[in-house]
Amino acid sequence: MSNDMVQALAAENEDRKYFYSVLNTFSSYREQSLLRIKSKERAVMILPGHHKRWLKNYLNDLGLFMECIEANSKVIPIILKDAKSIFGNIYSSTGTSHSETEVGTLSEGLDKVQSVFKQLMRDWSSMGYNERKQCYQPIIDEIALQFPEDRVERKNINVLVPGAGLGRLAFEITLKGFSCEGNEFNMFMLIVSNFVLNLCKVVDEYEIYPWIHQYCNNLKAEDQTISVRFPDVRPMPTPEGTFSMTAGDFLEVYKKQNEWDCVATCFFIDCASNIVQFLETIHSILKPGGVWINLGPLLYHYSGLKNERSIEPSFEVLCDIIKSVGFEMEKCETGIKTKYCQNPKSMLQYEYDSVFFVCRKSLWIPSSTEGY
Ligand SMILES: C[S@@+](CC[C@H](N)C(=O)[O-])C[C@H]1O[C@@H](n2cnc3c(N)ncnc32)[C@H](O)[C@@H]1O
Repeated sequence: MSNDMVQALAAENEDRKYFYSVLNTFSSYREQSLLRIKSKERAVMILPGHHKRWLKNYLNDLGLFMECIEANSKVIPIILKDAKSIFGNIYSSTGTSHSETEVGTLSEGLDKVQSVFKQLMRDWSSMGYNERKQCYQPIIDEIALQFPEDRVERKNINVLVPGAGLGRLAFEITLKGFSCEGNEFNMFMLIVSNFVLNLCKVVDEYEIYPWIHQYCNNLKAEDQTISVRFPDVRPMPTPEGTFSMTAGDFLEVYKKQNEWDCVATCFFIDCASNIVQFLETIHSILKPGGVWINLGPLLYHYSGLKNERSIEPSFEVLCDIIKSVGFEMEKCETGIKTKYCQNPKSMLQYEYDSVFFVCRKSLWIPSSTEGY
């Protein structure tokens, strides 16, 4: 066996191992979440007797939270049932050294499962309507404006949505008649989006409690136990051949130059340790004259993380870089009020004054890249 083949097999084995640990992490959601509540109960139990008596209602609330966690955990096996058929069944075959039972769970996994529940609220519930209107609608409207139905055949316009989350924005773009591809590298998101987009057939079939793990800033226990139903629309069938989701790191998957008519990014560009790399890749994969539409804040997800070389240029600096990369900024608005997976009842409300901009890749191709 050649060295390359050995390396490819080892990489495949690692991918499979990771995939199984994601499945195991989903499956451990109930136990892990209940353990956290049990430790809160124990924290009360060791208090003086009169404190325990006064905290009776708090203990009752913890009981209620357990019921909601039980309800969330009932949805998980339904989501996982066909998860192995994702990516053309590559994970359903046997024959490698890692079986599902051999691998453990991921240490940061419970947070990822909780985030997916919140993202289900944002993308696929009626309660997420306002967030989607704030964040997705300006992008969808701009794409429609850039490519009017009476002037172009929309199914020939290729739109890419990197960092697609659970795929709602990409799905909505497809509904406008475009060919749209969502890209995502988070396996938790990919498994759940696969479930919603390919397997959910009945509107509002499932009920989940997206904020059940937010123990702080609640006026009442009911604010923590708000439930939502999903999917708010029937995602299937999507128009044939015009919608897809790809798995993998945006920087790794998209290497082919001059391919896309439009790249749409929502709450995405700040997900890089080096944002400039994202801008360069977006520029490189767009066709000359292609358009990049962005909406979101500059939260810089890697900022302050140990062992990460994160850079955090201000929007002003970014605007200069956008020009240097080869874009012309055609529209720019600041102060767009946007929320992200926000519990409307929480005492803590995060609202981003996001930026919205539209950039065009110039038609002029610098001589150094000619010939590609
Ligand atoms: C803040 S979320 C936004 C999700 C969605 N666009 C929305 O507005 O709800 C960013 C998403 O980008 C994904 N992401 C971050 N870096 C990525 C990369 N290099 N390649 C692909 N996806 C990435 C994350 O997993 C996450 O789902």
